[in-house]
Amino acid sequence: MANQDFLNEINKRRTFAIISHPDAGKTTITEKVLLFGNALQRAGTVKGKKSGQHAKSDWMEMEKERGISVTTSVMQFPYSECLVNLLDTPGHEDFSEDTYRTLTAVDSCLMVIDAAKGVEARTIKLMEVTRLRDTPIITFMNKLDRDTRDPIDLLDEVESVLNIKCAPITWPIGMGKEFKGIYHLLRDETVLYSTGQGHTIQERRVIKGLDNPELDAAVGVYAGELREMLELVKGASHEFNLAEFIAGELTPVFFGTAMGNFGVDHMLDGLVEWAPSPQGRETDQGSVQAKDEKFSGFVFKIQANMDPKHRDRIAFCRIVSGKYQKGMKMHQSRIGKDVRISDALTFFAGDREVLDEAYAGDIIGLHNHGSIQIGDTFTSGDKFRFAGIPNFAPELFKRIRLRDPLKQKQLLKGLIQLSEEGAVQVFRPLQNNDLIVGAVGVLQFDVVVARLKGEYNVDALYEHINVATARWIYGKDERKVDEFQRKAEANLALDGGDNLTYIAPTMVNLSLAQERYPDIEFHQTREH
Ligand code: G4P
Repeated sequence: MANQDFLNEINKRRTFAIISHPDAGKTTITEKVLLFGNALQRAGTVKGKKSGQHAKSDWMEMEKERGISVTTSVMQFPYSECLVNLLDTPGHEDFSEDTYRTLTAVDSCLMVIDAAKGVEARTIKLMEVTRLRDTPIITFMNKLDRDTRDPIDLLDEVESVLNIKCAPITWPIGMGKEFKGIYHLLRDETVLYSTGQGHTIQERRVIKGLDNPELDAAVGVYAGELREMLELVKGASHEFNLAEFIAGELTPVFFGTAMGNFGVDHMLDGLVEWAPSPQGRETDQGSVQAKDEKFSGFVFKIQANMDPKHRDRIAFCRIVSGKYQKGMKMHQSRIGKDVRISDALTFFAGDREVLDEAYAGDIIGLHNHGSIQIGDTFTSGDKFRFAGIPNFAPELFKRIRLRDPLKQKQLLKGLIQLSEEGAVQVFRPLQNNDLIVGAVGVLQFDVVVARLKGEYNVDALYEHINVATARWIYGKDERKVDEFQRKAEANLALDGGDNLTYIAPTMVNLSLAQERYPDIEFHQTREH
């Protein structure tokens, strides 16, 4: 039996990430969430992309120049009785495969939607990724202080486009200049909104009960409208159901304004109450539960150049089970070696410090001198390896070429190492000597050229190449795969890990190939 203190530590943890389209309000909501977590005295210092007020990091030059964060930081803070880990997901130009992989390291997601715009492209993409693990999703409809779309339309759109049932937990009263607050359907209370208090934690002004005349006094004609509307809403939408939420089939929906710091706390209350505590993961030898006392974890991201002076790389490890203790011995399953770890790091908005202990659900940073790869499993001695930390088929491709042709070997070595770190993917066509670089975000290309120069002393440049997508090739019948390899050789390449990949010049070409070779599986993800 695990001891109670240990179980309490696990039970109180909530590890989540935010998914949203750029500009929906992820940064603003992160600031407010941290304000509630007392992690920031005054919200507004997370990344300050416009104020030029940078978190204390001095990582990549590029990051400074462009005023964006190339890194996934991890923020831990207490809320209510819980300890919350918020994993930041690179979003704007810094969108990358790390964004996708971060979603495999959380137990729930907050989906932020700009209520004036509704469901946008990036959100659809990210939702697809959360579906790989049926991650529970909480929804926040943001920017109610502006004129937004009709709330019912918004729910309909989420349901039809994202294929998830919506259960409104709060309902907005008015919008834009007339935004008055929300009615909490489960608590049967109205919370009134006050403008101009975005930087502080507001005292909740609450009116109990829907029929309370105080409500009419406070919001005037909107009270009647609200009562009518709720009749409709209750008939037309779904009731919250915990099991469906946990299965990723239903999302509780909250309304508010991140900028006005209104509604974020209602959402956080929902998160700590309903979102799952750290979940187990599958391994090649069965599943591991968070409450297993033996330590285990997997690496989902490698961050280079966090400290350019030391050229160090940090591997971000999600603890799946047990507890990390400073000085403990870890077994790295892929290479079968034991390492003693006494300097694992914790992160906070750019700062990092050495930590003494951490539990399942937490993210720790391990110093990496080149021996750690994305997907690596660390255990306290067991030899299993975690499944489900994928590569994602890139969506952007370029041919990479050397300025100095003599450095071909270094270029290849650099690219393979960078692909092992997950910075980018590399493909080598079977029939020619091209090197194709694949990414899901444009910034990845620049990062790769900068790092090839800085770390491998290789001067490279890109050329356009006609590639629409890539798929990893599998087949149960080896003979069929061999035959496919012969016939489709012109479209085949090996990735950084020597896996066979189909490189499609157009999406039509891909569907034709899929039709033509029904025994061959074309996969959009590849597990490490
Ligand atoms: P992101 O990280 O998802 O990209 O979004 P971010 O929080 O940076 O927000 C994008 C823009 O939307 C910002 O405005 C931000 O102030 C604004 N915003 C966020 N939440 C709300 C809200 O609840 N109401 C309103 N009205 N605006 C909101 P910006 O003009 O791009 O930047 P800034 O100069 O205001 O910082």
